[in-house]
Amino acid sequence: MHFPELKPQVQNILNQENLDVKDKLTQVCELLEQNIPYYDWVGFYFKNGDKEELKLKAFAGEPTDHEIIPFGKGICGQVAVSNKNFVVPDVKNQSNYIACSIYVKAEIVIPLFVNGENIGQIDIDSHTEDPFSHEDELFLEWVNQKVAEIL
Ligand code: SME
Repeated sequence: MHFPELKPQVQNILNQENLDVKDKLTQVCELLEQNIPYYDWVGFYFKNGDKEELKLKAFAGEPTDHEIIPFGKGICGQVAVSNKNFVVPDVKNQSNYIACSIYVKAEIVIPLFVNGENIGQIDIDSHTEDPFSHEDELFLEWVNQKVAEIL
């Protein structure tokens, strides 16, 4: 399934009235993980209260040991401070990287902004090397904008 077909499904999940935010985000993660072949783990991290760290709120894929990530650490922690998309075609070339699984070859992290503030991110791991294009960035930016509307 391609991004234009997934967008209305993401919107439908976020519009549901009988689900809390965590359940909506979990369903969005599952939708993306199940329908995009090279998305093998999908998660949303958010700033953990007043702490300089990220906390995992929702995910699809294998459970991770890295539910808390300090700002600056790993790809996720770097995005928490840079406020910029981070596309990693080959994780082997990253020195500041937190490995969640030996199968992961590539990663993309897109910050999530509410009123201009970077409050979280969507993180995708892939078992395929160099799978992410500019289209992924645009799609995931769109997902984060829609999520921001329900927070
Ligand atoms: N690889 C990430 C850690 C999170 S896991 O991918 C779920 C990082 O380097 O920040």
